[in-house]
Amino acid sequence: MSLTSNETWTPGDACTFFKVVVLASGTGSNFQALVDQLQRRILADSEGKPVLAPVCCTGDPPLMGALVFDIALLITDVPGAPVLEKAWTAGVPTAVLAYEAYATVEEHDKHLADAVRESEADLIVLAGYMRVLSPTFVAAFPGRIINLHPALLPAFPGTNSIADVLEHGAKLTGVTVHYVDEGVDTGPIIAQEPVLIEEGDTVESLAERIHGVEHRLLPEVVRKIAAGKVMAPSPGSRRVQVDR
Ligand code: GRF
Repeated sequence: MSLTSNETWTPGDACTFFKVVVLASGTGSNFQALVDQLQRRILADSEGKPVLAPVCCTGDPPLMGALVFDIALLITDVPGAPVLEKAWTAGVPTAVLAYEAYATVEEHDKHLADAVRESEADLIVLAGYMRVLSPTFVAAFPGRIINLHPALLPAFPGTNSIADVLEHGAKLTGVTVHYVDEGVDTGPIIAQEPVLIEEGDTVESLAERIHGVEHRLLPEVVRKIAAGKVMAPSPGSRRVQVDR
């Protein structure tokens, strides 16, 4: 679609974006890093209220190589999570699906899958999502779910990896972006970047350097997937081909 600045745009209007749904449970600094990649412009909705529209919807020529994906929806499992505020500020639609509201994880994930399908997402990005998705959910979106992990997998999987790395006395750690399979942090690796552990590092100081790398690496991987530069592995293989 194409609009001039005095026409109206309704959230959900068709634009030919690669659409991403982000799942996050907490602070959302990585969600923000993805938001910072978006080109948005303030327009008015049908009632004259300001809305943030993706730039291609304004009729501007697309900025060369800058606008590759849009975030169609932010889903959190934690009511009141700080990531919600970030989404509201960025004009990204939100949904809260708390596990406590459902009898089983399967039931929760059925609603999660419905929300993802309704958003017409091409990719599901777990950016600090602290729950394990059910096998049924994972099987419903083959090769379309990625996760960000603050260590060099397969070393130090799980939710405490930064503390685990320090306790182990490792000298090197890093960041991994990988496809999600039915295991915990076991899916095929798309991208990794090392982070050196320094003498006297604490969980906080190491986490800060890891976050710095995450905020660059995750958007880079999403941009590459959106641009068709990442090939999910064929059956029986774990090798992910990534073009420059
Ligand atoms: C990140 O370190 C990510 O690797 C891990 O959870 C953390 C989320 O941080 N899975 P934030 O909420 O994006 O700030």
